Amino acid sequence: MLLITRIIPEAVLARARAEHETRELRHVGPFDRAKLLAATDGVDAILCATSDKFDAALIAALPASVKVIATYSVGTEHIDLAAAAARGIAIANTPDVLTGATAELTLMLMLMAARRAGEGERILRAGNWAGLTPTYLLGRDVHGKRLGIFGMGRIGRAVARMARALDMEIHYHNRTRLDPALEDGAMYHADDTSFLGGIDFLSLNAPGGESTRGWLNAARLAKLTPGAIVVNTGRGSIVDDAALIAALRSGHVAAAGLDVYNNEPNLHPDYLTLENAVLLPHIGSATVETRNAMGFLALDGIKAALSRV
Ligand code: NAP
Ligand code: 8YV
Repeated sequence: MLLITRIIPEAVLARARAEHETRELRHVGPFDRAKLLAATDGVDAILCATSDKFDAALIAALPASVKVIATYSVGTEHIDLAAAAARGIAIANTPDVLTGATAELTLMLMLMAARRAGEGERILRAGNWAGLTPTYLLGRDVHGKRLGIFGMGRIGRAVARMARALDMEIHYHNRTRLDPALEDGAMYHADDTSFLGGIDFLSLNAPGGESTRGWLNAARLAKLTPGAIVVNTGRGSIVDDAALIAALRSGHVAAAGLDVYNNEPNLHPDYLTLENAVLLPHIGSATVETRNAMGFLALDGIKAALSRV
């Protein structure tokens, strides 16, 4: 039996029902540990989302029948992978199929933040447009500027490909330098100072988890080019919210485009007071095509895992 914790696209649900007996929680909102655990009785596979937190305690409490947990995401920091391995529970995720959608949303946030699109929309909807003047709602050019990518993986490299179409100069920081073929001319920075001081846009495309938690803190923000623009489609945990909010208020960071947040969906309330923050509700992979492809890939992972038991 397959436990499906959240509402999933109809096409994916149809395939899931064709391949498995399903138990469909259709849970909306914050994770409910007790509700999820109660629903695992007799299941051999679970299809979850990033809001479902499979920590070591929950994994230890899962029935022996559970052989695989598939997450409707490429990110896996919501699952204790070591605890799952210790239980012999396979983990499946959805890399690659969501790269394009997430990268294009990253570019969109860069452009919206730089060109003050959110402010413009709010002005029109409020009936406050008084007409054109040469200095009205001035933003910043994106084309030809320097883009720094923190986390030059699948999505980061796709962002770089798209940004090159805007004649942007690409810089990146990873723990390990990429092969030149993957760099495609991007400039690698092993240290923060050269990376952050030499870019006009910073895109956060690294995973969540302990190795990136709070990476964009006050000290690193201070190293960032004054007037830079920050975009985050990686994980909210990468950012020290208080530090970014302070930098946005001072203008040291000219604008931010955010899709992910600490403590989702309860983002830091001060972001809502900032005109120079463009805010989206974690929709980086949220297209019909991509969410179908993610679901099919997750079901492939479940099928492969169950075929091995
Ligand atoms: P990926 O191919 O694994 O790329 C991750 C990159 O981050 C790698 O190049 C890795 O290089 C780098 N990295 C990891 N830890 C690092 C650290 N501590 N310091 C510096 N660099 C680090 O993953 P992906 O497919 O691009 O996805 C990346 C992340 O995007 C996901 O994990 C997820 O959190 C997020 N995401 C968000 C959305 C959304 O809806 N907003 C959608 C999809 C994905 P090194 O190992 O060499 O450091
Ligand atoms: C997920 C994401 O769809 O893939 C990831 O890591 O963050 C998104 O693609 C989102 O987390 C909802 O499950």
